[in-house]
Amino acid sequence: MSKRPDYGIDAPGLATGFLAGGIGAFALALLIWEFWRGSLLVGILTAILAFGGLYLSGMGCLMVVWSKHIKLKTRETMLDYVIWRGNEQVLDVGCGRGLMMVGAAKRLTSGKATGIDIWQAKDQSGNGPKGALENAVLEGFSDRVHIETGDMRALPFANGSFEVVMSHWAVHNLEQVDDRATALREMMRVLRPGGSLILADIEHREAYMAALKNMGVAECRLDVKPVMDKILGIVSFDSFRPSTIFARKALLH
Ligand SMILES: C[S@@+](CC[C@H](N)C(=O)[O-])C[C@H]1O[C@@H](n2cnc3c(N)ncnc32)[C@H](O)[C@@H]1O
Repeated sequence: MSKRPDYGIDAPGLATGFLAGGIGAFALALLIWEFWRGSLLVGILTAILAFGGLYLSGMGCLMVVWSKHIKLKTRETMLDYVIWRGNEQVLDVGCGRGLMMVGAAKRLTSGKATGIDIWQAKDQSGNGPKGALENAVLEGFSDRVHIETGDMRALPFANGSFEVVMSHWAVHNLEQVDDRATALREMMRVLRPGGSLILADIEHREAYMAALKNMGVAECRLDVKPVMDKILGIVSFDSFRPSTIFARKALLH
C-alpha cells in the first residue's frame, strides 16, 4: 500500500492525556461498581467517574479526528479565500508538517510556498522539517515548497516578500500577549501591499482582529460557525474555539 501524507496530531501530549484519563476514569468506575455497589454514595461516585471518562475520552477523540480529518477539509475552505493566479509567493507560519504549505503548493504553478517553524514536539506529533517535506513529496508538490527553521516573532524575510501569508493554529502557542502581537506584526511586515493574510487559530480571535485593525488593514473579516462555536466553547471551557480571520493589507498610496 502506498504511504499517505500524515499531518500529525496537534498537542499530542494533551490528546493522549485526555484519552488515558478517559479510559482510566471508566476503568475505575467499573471497578468501584463491581466491588462496592449497593449504596447511593457509590452510585453517585460511579456516575461522576463514568461521566468524566466520557468527557475526557470525547475530548481526546475530538482532537484526533480534527487533526486527522476535519483540518484537511477546512484548509481548502480557507485557501478558497485567495483568488489564485499560480505565481504567488506564499508563507505558512508555524507550518508544522506542512498542512497549509502543501495545500497552497497544490494551487501554484510557478509560485512557491515557504513553510517556517521552530518544530516544537509538544505542539504537533512528529514535528520537523523532514515530516513537512515528506508530505510535500507524497502529495507530489515538493518542487513548489521551501522549508525554513525560524521564529514567527522575527521572520527572516524582507518586507513585502509574500503575496499570501497563512498561519494555522500556531500563534496561540506563544504564551505572552506581546509575543502574539509581535508575530502578527511580523506577518503583516512580510506581506506585500494588497496581499492576503489567512490567520486560523483556536483562541484569541478578538485580540487578533483588534491588532490587525490597528495595523490599518484594508479588509478584516472573521469566519466562524456560530452553532459549532457555542458548543465547542462550552465543552472546552473556551480553550478550543476554531475560527479564521481573512485580512488584506492596504495598498500603498
Ligand atoms: C498545533 S501546530 C500546527 C501546525 C500546522 N500549522 C497545522 O495546522 O497542522 C503549531 C505549530 O506552531 C509551531 N510554533 C510554535 N511556536 C512557534 C514560533 N515561535 N515560531 C514558529 N513556529 C512556532 C510549532 O512548532 C508547531 O509546529
